Amino acid sequence: MSTTPAGYLSGLFSLEGRTALVTGGSSGIGRAIAGALARAGASVVVMARKEAELVETVEELTADGCRAARVSADLSTREGIKAGAEAAAAVFGEPDILVNSAGINLRPPFGELGEEVWDTTMTLNLEAPFLLGQRFGPGMAERGFGRIIHITSQQAHRAFVQSGAYGVSKGALESLARSQAEAWSPYGVTANTLVPGFVMTPLNRRLSSDPEKVAALAARTMVGRNGLAEDFAGAAVFLASPSSAYVTGQSLFVDGGFSVH
Ligand SMILES: NC(=O)c1ccc[n+]([C@@H]2O[C@H](COP(=O)([O-])OP(=O)(O)OC[C@H]3O[C@@H](n4cnc5c(N)ncnc54)[C@H](OP(=O)(O)O)[C@@H]3O)[C@@H](O)[C@H]2O)c1
Repeated sequence: MSTTPAGYLSGLFSLEGRTALVTGGSSGIGRAIAGALARAGASVVVMARKEAELVETVEELTADGCRAARVSADLSTREGIKAGAEAAAAVFGEPDILVNSAGINLRPPFGELGEEVWDTTMTLNLEAPFLLGQRFGPGMAERGFGRIIHITSQQAHRAFVQSGAYGVSKGALESLARSQAEAWSPYGVTANTLVPGFVMTPLNRRLSSDPEKVAALAARTMVGRNGLAEDFAGAAVFLASPSSAYVTGQSLFVDGGFSVH
């Protein structure tokens, strides 16, 4: 083991030589995580639907000297998920790190929540992480290293502002992480979730454009502010790195203390 601080830190956290797939990597939390993994040395494929944001993300990372590429896929259909997975694996090879950040939060009043909203929510927020895990998890186990990171929500643990189908999908996603952890941890593949509180991203533009609501939510944290996408960088690198080998099936709250206040 290296005796310099840089060498020691690199042994713990470097992602050099690893490949990563980050769904939702073109915006918000996913984009910050994709940037963090790439800057820590991984070759990163970002996946989402809109080309312009994907291109912008890849250009920013390559300008910083990172290895990054994009795949446009619609993860709200099974066909889209499967096609996206193959396209992603064709870029830098099979991923060692899978981050599921793509998600939507549709909030019709619960009594009006129909099958369409239910199906779209479950397919994108839950089934895509499941199918991508089924596609890549066994290969990770065979190679003896893998990191699966899901982005869930405080709504996996409590109802909050019309949780509806969204809260259900996130609760199940935390269970999925435990099932994956149980199956693959003996083979060097960990599965964990990062649990955000309220983060200022395009996902919750409606709430985050209301200064009173923003201030009220910040007051519910212990840190005294709402989350930023960049708050997830360090936690994501940790969960993707060799140093988290003994951390699996866990939910790590990155929420400024929101959940315990
Ligand atoms: N922001 C918060 O306060 C908060 C709180 C708790 C949990 N979360 C969770 O954190 C994750 C990231 O949220 P965020 O706030 O960073 O949201 P965001 O900025 O809106 O990013 C969502 C990402 O998902 C992609 N996406 C959406 N629909 C897709 C589809 N059908 N197929 C493929 N990609 C799709 C989007 O790109 P395209 O639109 O181009 O497809 C975008 O890259 C989500 O799972 C969310 O539930 C966020």
